[in-house]
Amino acid sequence: MAITTDAAAAIGAALSTPARRLPEPCAMVIFGASGDLTERKLIPALYYLYRHELLPQGFSVVGYARSSFSDDQFRARQFEAVKEYLKIPAEDESYLTEFLKGVFYSSGDYTAPDGYDRLAKALDDLDEQRGTGGNRLFYMATPPSFFGDIVRNLGARGLARPKHEGRNWTRVVIEKPFGHDLESARELNRLVTSVFREEQIYRIDHYLGKETVQNLLVFRFANGIFEPVWNRRYIDHVQIAVAEDLGLEGRGGYYEEAGLVRDMIQNHVLSLLSLIAMEPPSQFEAKSVRDEKSKVMRAIRPLPLDALNEAAVRGQYVEGWKGDQRLPAYRAEPKVSPQSVTETFAALKLYIDNWRWADVPFYIRSGKRLPKRISEITIEFRRAPHLLFRGTITEDMVPNLLRVRIQPDEGISLRFNAKIPDTMMQIRPVEMDFRYNEVFEASPPTAYETLLLDCMLGDPMLFTRDEFVDLAWELITPLLRRWRDDGRKGLYFYEAGTWGPPEADSLMEHDGRHWRHL
Ligand code: BG6
Repeated sequence: MAITTDAAAAIGAALSTPARRLPEPCAMVIFGASGDLTERKLIPALYYLYRHELLPQGFSVVGYARSSFSDDQFRARQFEAVKEYLKIPAEDESYLTEFLKGVFYSSGDYTAPDGYDRLAKALDDLDEQRGTGGNRLFYMATPPSFFGDIVRNLGARGLARPKHEGRNWTRVVIEKPFGHDLESARELNRLVTSVFREEQIYRIDHYLGKETVQNLLVFRFANGIFEPVWNRRYIDHVQIAVAEDLGLEGRGGYYEEAGLVRDMIQNHVLSLLSLIAMEPPSQFEAKSVRDEKSKVMRAIRPLPLDALNEAAVRGQYVEGWKGDQRLPAYRAEPKVSPQSVTETFAALKLYIDNWRWADVPFYIRSGKRLPKRISEITIEFRRAPHLLFRGTITEDMVPNLLRVRIQPDEGISLRFNAKIPDTMMQIRPVEMDFRYNEVFEASPPTAYETLLLDCMLGDPMLFTRDEFVDLAWELITPLLRRWRDDGRKGLYFYEAGTWGPPEADSLMEHDGRHWRHL
């Protein structure tokens, strides 16, 4: 699109930058500190915040896990991991070393109380020695089976309440999956809310921290021209695709239990859907935004269990190829049963039964081992009501299309029809394209940086509220139950490195539509 760098600079200057808020001094405890998430996402994100001077004075981390490490051994592991994931140049390594001086390790069991005694002591010491001020952020980065034990023990040791009521804060971040189905999610919620108050609980869905996902709200509500056409009168259907080329990355044990729908749709994809479909909130603040998201969830029509094939397709990858690299079948992955019926691909058709969206299908697809990593939302508009140019060489006039690319190559493009310069009336589609990296020079923070900072600042807007989790499970649980009962029946296979089973195409073709080419 013709947004020049000058125009971008002018827009930047016109929108005066609000002053950044720094969080109050605090300490963060990471449960599951010896795991993958800590090394790949959490510590790199905290280092990024440190480098951009967004962390408070004295900020400290206590890693907690069962393995035994000294502080220095733990720091050395994190040093190597951050260096690798963030590709830190040699001249910046001293910053990383400095940051890691505020990182400590406490080893302990998740179930037994004595580890929490040591943790409490370590936190008090940090308050004294590094000035962390009694504010605490507990981050659950363990497998979900430990969430309950950790919460119970924090409660029993008195760590769930602020150190000095009224003066300090204590918050807890809970990773997904929040529960395994509706009942277990409710049970976990009951337990967590018996120890923490709802305003202390931050259920994280890292998709909501992605810059492009937040921009969806800006796109819809900071521009006057889209909202009037953002409804059933003008929109034919919506597609949401969240595709990954990766396989299990060593997470076979977890994935066998979870499957694609629990791993991606119950949280990330439904969050995206709610942002596209929600009504304008009256204010840009947590309660209003989360209220509107929940209303969307409440309006989604239950999946038709008596005609499930018309609304849901599941698939699993078999052996395939990526270039000349052979990709193993899902059933041949480590820690996966050779008879597994876990889905690695799903396509769904959902309807939102309200005035804005009645009869507009939302088609969703997501999968592992697809040809590439791409997340994209497509809004397909209805065709022009009167085909004025019929009879010319314009029979193929395509509908307008708005594509929001969440990742990679973040941007937004609009397709419309244009006349080909010639004496004849010939029409073809063209694109107006906005690309983040061309317009804004600085690379955006990753999701975890945004979300960790929000959490320290006490802003829960981008976190998931209990009722959203509940409504999402209410929608998904009957489907998962049916698939479990059906076993192998209705599970379709696709070659790794392809776009899923052909049955997913039929889901669209049945409605006279097709998936967008990604
Ligand atoms: C996680 C899932 O929540 O999201 C993973 O558990 C998935 O299976 C990941 O790979 C995708 O995240 P992103 O940010 O790479 O799109």
